[in-house]
Amino acid sequence: MPVPQYQFLIPAQPEVGQDDFEHAARLLKRRAGIMLGSHKREMAARTLSTRSQKLGLESIAQYLTVLEQNQSSAEWNAFINAFTINHTAFFREQHHFEILSEFVRTRKSPISVWCAAASTGEEPYTIAMTLRESLQRADDSASIWATDIDTQALERARRGVYSLERVKTVPEYYLKKYFHRGKDSKAGLARVKPAIYDMIRFDQFNLLSPSWPTDQKFDAIFCRNTMIYFDKPTQTRILERFASVMKKGGVLFAGHSENFTYLTKAFQLRGQTVYTVVS
Ligand SMILES: C[S@@+](CC[C@H](N)C(=O)[O-])C[C@H]1O[C@@H](n2cnc3c(N)ncnc32)[C@H](O)[C@@H]1O
Repeated sequence: MPVPQYQFLIPAQPEVGQDDFEHAARLLKRRAGIMLGSHKREMAARTLSTRSQKLGLESIAQYLTVLEQNQSSAEWNAFINAFTINHTAFFREQHHFEILSEFVRTRKSPISVWCAAASTGEEPYTIAMTLRESLQRADDSASIWATDIDTQALERARRGVYSLERVKTVPEYYLKKYFHRGKDSKAGLARVKPAIYDMIRFDQFNLLSPSWPTDQKFDAIFCRNTMIYFDKPTQTRILERFASVMKKGGVLFAGHSENFTYLTKAFQLRGQTVYTVVS
């Protein structure tokens, strides 16, 4: 009997066994704090089988063992990059930038802001535009440390080039002042201008890292829509570390669905998911 042709056309869906899935979830949580829900199983199967094939390994189990045994391997970046969720936007949760603008007017220059989960850059560039517009004296200055664990997202952030679709949420006044519109082969793209680009330093930084900055204190920290992927003890540990790197009276901006009120006494809710450090 002839075999129906479609059997040859449909590629086999990669699968991941329960043990391997749990192993991957353990490694991801231990390294990056990110909790891998079972709804991510298909996506994990695709990712893990692609990565193991790329390294010429026989199975996902072997891939995970090699990863675990090589804690300083560059493969960790590829593994983590595959599981991060980078959703972000310019002027996301706009009320925070109004609060930031008012807040910095009460602070002494130089202003220092840490954007601790900067993803593809929309958030730190929004902070930079807000700061530029809020500094009052010509010699006032501000800088932003923009970090993320995801090396691919950071690469896009460092490029500072976005589609016109992505910059739709940037008000026209800011768009004209802080972006170059591409022409000819760059039509449809917008590039951030040095006026804001030069205020930002981009670095890879894992919020679970044992070594935190010791030489810098911040007026404000943005860590929005990231702690939701961590469990409560991890969130508490990170919050207490944030408190230790803030200037007196500094503020922490959290995401719309994040509530840190009961996790630590190091911060006090100021309103609209903004917290003031208690010192
Ligand atoms: C949903 S995005 C949020 C982006 C931005 N803060 C916002 O609210 O628009 C979450 C970001 O957290 C980053 N992330 C996840 N775990 C991290 C960790 N352990 N250390 C640093 N960044 C992490 C991810 O790579 C991702 O870019």
